[in-house]
Amino acid sequence: MKTVQVELGNRTYPITISKGILEDIGSSLSRFGFSSPLALVSNTTVFPLYGATVSRSLSLSGFSCKEIILPDGEEYKTLASAEKIVDALLQARLDRKSAIIALGGGVIGDGAGFAASIYKRGIDFIQIPTTLLAQVDSSVGGKTGVNHPRGKNMIGTFWQPRLVWIDIDTLASLPRRELLAGISEIIKYGIIGDRDLFDYLERTARNILGLEGDTLRHIIRRSCQIKADIVSRDEREGGIRTILNFGHTIGHALETATGYKVFLHGEAVAIGMLVEAEIANLMGLLHHEEVLGIRRLLHAYGLPTAIPRDIDLEIFFAAMKLDKKAVSGTIRFILPDRIGSVAVHSSVPESAIRKAVEQAMEQ
Ligand SMILES: NC(=O)c1ccc[n+]([C@@H]2O[C@H](COP(=O)([O-])OP(=O)(O)OC[C@H]3O[C@@H](n4cnc5c(N)ncnc54)[C@H](O)[C@@H]3O)[C@@H](O)[C@H]2O)c1
Ligand SMILES: [Zn+2]
Repeated sequence: MKTVQVELGNRTYPITISKGILEDIGSSLSRFGFSSPLALVSNTTVFPLYGATVSRSLSLSGFSCKEIILPDGEEYKTLASAEKIVDALLQARLDRKSAIIALGGGVIGDGAGFAASIYKRGIDFIQIPTTLLAQVDSSVGGKTGVNHPRGKNMIGTFWQPRLVWIDIDTLASLPRRELLAGISEIIKYGIIGDRDLFDYLERTARNILGLEGDTLRHIIRRSCQIKADIVSRDEREGGIRTILNFGHTIGHALETATGYKVFLHGEAVAIGMLVEAEIANLMGLLHHEEVLGIRRLLHAYGLPTAIPRDIDLEIFFAAMKLDKKAVSGTIRFILPDRIGSVAVHSSVPESAIRKAVEQAMEQ
């Protein structure tokens, strides 16, 4: 079985990536030495699809398990949901040798991970990510959290999972648009650190869109390796980890300016990556051919690259300046100098940003 290790000293953990492994989770947790009761956190969409397989596997391995099913949606990624999870854990008398299993996308993973980090000052947790975005991004790296009415992910912790268990077969039921949004983050890994991955995504678009197993496994594994490598060098985002935010300065501003209603996160990031590549080009850092290459790949996966003409530019620019990654007023960008290499630029001229944004609106 293929695994990627996230190297963090005595908190090192494996990411297992394979097909049809959902039914093996129980025996894997036995090997890890967990004890009953466990808790399984999922939502009303994912639990009916995969909950029975996971529950059966746990019970065959002798685990008792408290099932906690939340409503589906980002709007339920709240302190109230985290409290609901904690309530259920207390009721089921989970102790410090127990563990919480998150079965679902990033919303469930972030919320269940957060609950695990605060329950009795922290218990173990296991990620079973079922969206492509969660498999290549949110389940790896230990950022947990919930939203506050004043901002997304404003309440959270760093709390690493003990195990990430990725069954590629779960992607078969994922809505197409969610799949493509996940591919956007994989394209990001190619641009920030792996030209071969970028080229591979271009060559194999047809296989990937057809959910061909070996190809999917390769791109998920490579993405996890890149993220694991960055996280093990800079767990708390004091330095290099910030390059994972390529495409996100513009992407987040776009999500804010459209009230989180128009784009999925990965779609906003797709537009953000192209605009930020244009900024790099305008600053003389990145060759025009590379910008065209990025646009071509985004289009190959049906991802958007244009900013809607009717967006409120005032909100857009205000959001960019308020981005929590902005350091003391200047807007910081992660900009590529070629596909496969990026650097942090802390004083990007506003004129280049405005020009790149205008270009993206004219498309
Ligand atoms: N912790 C991190 O480092 C990190 C990184 C990136 C994103 N995030 C967070 O992740 C969240 C987004 O995650 P997401 O994109 O997975 O969204 P999501 O969890 O909302 O999942 C998207 C939709 O797909 C459904 N779904 C999940 N798996 C399915 C499957 N196999 N078949 C059918 N439907 C399925 C979900 O129920 C939901 O309706 C955001 O809250 C974001 O802040 C966290
Ligand atoms: Zn992202």
